[in-house]
Amino acid sequence: MYNSKIIGLGKYLPENVVTNADLEKIMDTSDAWIQERTGIKERRHILKGSDDTTYYMGVKASKIAIERAGISPQEIDLILFATLSPDYYFPGSGVLVQEALEIPNCPAMDIRMQCSGFVYAVATADQFIKTGMYKNVLVIGSEYHSGGLDMTSRGRNISVIFGDGAGAVLMTREKSKKKGILNSQLHSEGKYAQELSLIGPNTRRWVPEIMEENNPDDISYFPHMNGQFVFKNAVVRFSEVIMAGLKKAGWRPQEIDILIPHQANLRISQFVQKKFGLADKQVYNNIQRYGNTTAASIPIALTEAWEEGKVKKGSKVILAAFGSGFTWGSITIQW
Ligand SMILES: CC(C)(COP(=O)(O)OP(=O)(O)OC[C@H]1O[C@@H](n2cnc3c(N)ncnc32)[C@H](O)[C@@H]1OP(=O)(O)O)[C@@H](O)C(=O)NCCC(=O)NCCS
Repeated sequence: MYNSKIIGLGKYLPENVVTNADLEKIMDTSDAWIQERTGIKERRHILKGSDDTTYYMGVKASKIAIERAGISPQEIDLILFATLSPDYYFPGSGVLVQEALEIPNCPAMDIRMQCSGFVYAVATADQFIKTGMYKNVLVIGSEYHSGGLDMTSRGRNISVIFGDGAGAVLMTREKSKKKGILNSQLHSEGKYAQELSLIGPNTRRWVPEIMEENNPDDISYFPHMNGQFVFKNAVVRFSEVIMAGLKKAGWRPQEIDILIPHQANLRISQFVQKKFGLADKQVYNNIQRYGNTTAASIPIALTEAWEEGKVKKGSKVILAAFGSGFTWGSITIQW
C-alpha cells in the first residue's frame, strides 16, 4: 500500500480577457454589482474560431504538469478528466487527451461532478494509486463555459460568474504514509440536483422534440442557478468538509499553510476564512482574475499557488469544493 502525491502542476487560460466593463456593453449589469457580489473583475473567454476547446486546454495544462513531473506521457497509467462542459455529449474528453498525448491505450475516464469534479478526481486517483493498480495518474479539470452561456440580460445572474480555463496535476506513489494525500471527503445530495443544473436536452426531451417545439424562449439549454440557495448550502458544506479533513489529519485550522477553495464566489471564500479564523495568507483566491472555472478552478489556483512558492515541501494544504449536484468534498495534503 502506498500514499499518493502530486508531483507536477500546470494551467492554461485562454488569452482573451473579458472585463466587467466588456459585459456592461452587452447586458444590463455593472462592474460594481459583479465585484460587490462575487469579487470578480475579469474572466477569460475562448475567442470564437480559436483552436481551444475543453480537451485541448486540458492537453496544454497537462503538458506543463507532465514536464514538471519529469516523466514522459507514455508513463501515464490513467487519465481522469473532470468537466461539466465536455467536447462532445459522448464520448468523454479524457479519450481525446489520451490520443493527443499519444499515450498507448491507457484508460481515460471523465468525472462529471461539476465544481467538485477535481476533488472527486484527485480522490479517485488516490484510490487507484493506493491499491497499487496504477502508478502515474494524470488528473485534469477543464471547462469551456463561455460558448454555452446566455450572454443577454436574461442570463446575467450566471453568465457574469463563469470563465474558461484548465488545470492539471500528475499524481504518483508516495512511500511514506505521513506524506501526500492524507484523506479525502466526498459527499452528494441529489435532492437539490435541479438548483444548479443544465437540463436540456435530456432523455425525456431529446433534440428532435426540442426542434419540433421550435420555441425561441426555451432556456432549458442554458444553465440554471438558484443563487441564494446555492450560496447558503455552499458555506455550510465547505465548512463541514474542511473540518472533517482537519479532524482526520489531526490538524488545527491555524496549522493550515494554504486552503484552496473552489473559486465559486469571493464572498463564499471570505465566509469560510472567517469561520476558521484564517489569515489572508492562508487562503488562496484568484476568482478576481478568472471568474468561476468550475472543475478547473482548484487545479488552476493550486498551480498558481505552487508557482508563487505558497505550496512547497512540508506545506499543509487543503482543497475544498462545493457545487452542482449538490456535490462537495475536500482533500487534505501534506506536501
Ligand atoms: C449569484 C449571486 C452572486 C447573486 O447574488 P445575490 O445577492 O444572491 O443576488 P440575487 O440573485 O438575489 O439578485 C439580486 C438582484 O440583482 C439582480 N442581478 C442578478 N444578476 C445581476 C447582474 N449580473 N448584474 C446586475 N444585477 C443582477 C437580480 O435581478 C436582482 O434584482 P431585483 O432585486 O431587482 O430582483 C449569489 O447568489 C451567489 O454567488 N450565489 C452562489 C453562486 C455560486 O457560488 N455558484 C457556483 C457554485 S459552485
